[in-house]
Amino acid sequence: MKATGAATSTPSGVGGSESKGIASVVERLRKNRLIPVIVIDDPANAVPLARALEAGGLPCAEITFRTASALKAIERIARECPKVLVGAGTVLTPQQAEDARSAGAQFVVAPGFGAAMVDYCVQHGIPVFPGVATPTEIEFALSRGLSVMKFFPSELLGGMAYLKAMSAPYGKIDFLPSGGINLSNLPAYLSYPRIIACGGSWIAPPDWIAAGQFDRIRDEVRKSVVTAQAVKKEG
Ligand code: 3PG
Repeated sequence: MKATGAATSTPSGVGGSESKGIASVVERLRKNRLIPVIVIDDPANAVPLARALEAGGLPCAEITFRTASALKAIERIARECPKVLVGAGTVLTPQQAEDARSAGAQFVVAPGFGAAMVDYCVQHGIPVFPGVATPTEIEFALSRGLSVMKFFPSELLGGMAYLKAMSAPYGKIDFLPSGGINLSNLPAYLSYPRIIACGGSWIAPPDWIAAGQFDRIRDEVRKSVVTAQAVKKEG
């Protein structure tokens, strides 16, 4: 199986153009190395936030469905900041995945493996990264032709030591770890070749967004980008 995106065919018959969709998102994530996990209450903050991320060198945002404003925020970023790779996070149902796509989300992330939501995305060509924390969940994802998975909550599960042991039997699976990652432990993750990008809320903390501290966010983003880009891959 190729290291990026969905396999060439899946039990649901999805492949081809859908695989290309996921592969191009994966390539952009790989280049950025970081995924800001965003919790946003006021949709008016969405565009200033996206601009701060862009100005800091990280044109990407995972807007989580943890607030009622997520859809509006995605819509505004997709419309007004076309260079930003905007995705939806904490997507739990097929309806949320569809809403996210209609609003302009280019990818969907979930904390766990919700079969109905994941199957919907695979069948409709929506790039999806379900969360895995066990070998069983990795096998669920593989059975849908997915070879890129979120690993969550990473630090509490045991970080890279656990991730390496859990994924060892499966060959070329790539991961997007998040949960407890910050500037100090980031290099340990990014140095491992199977890590595409690390997600986290430290990059743009919810209270900074709510307080409209966009220059502060831009500066924090720059620091994170410099740290992330400096990490050399092992081997
Ligand atoms: C996620 O959804 O990826 C996590 O909530 C991010 O975890 P963090 O807040 O510990 O960075």
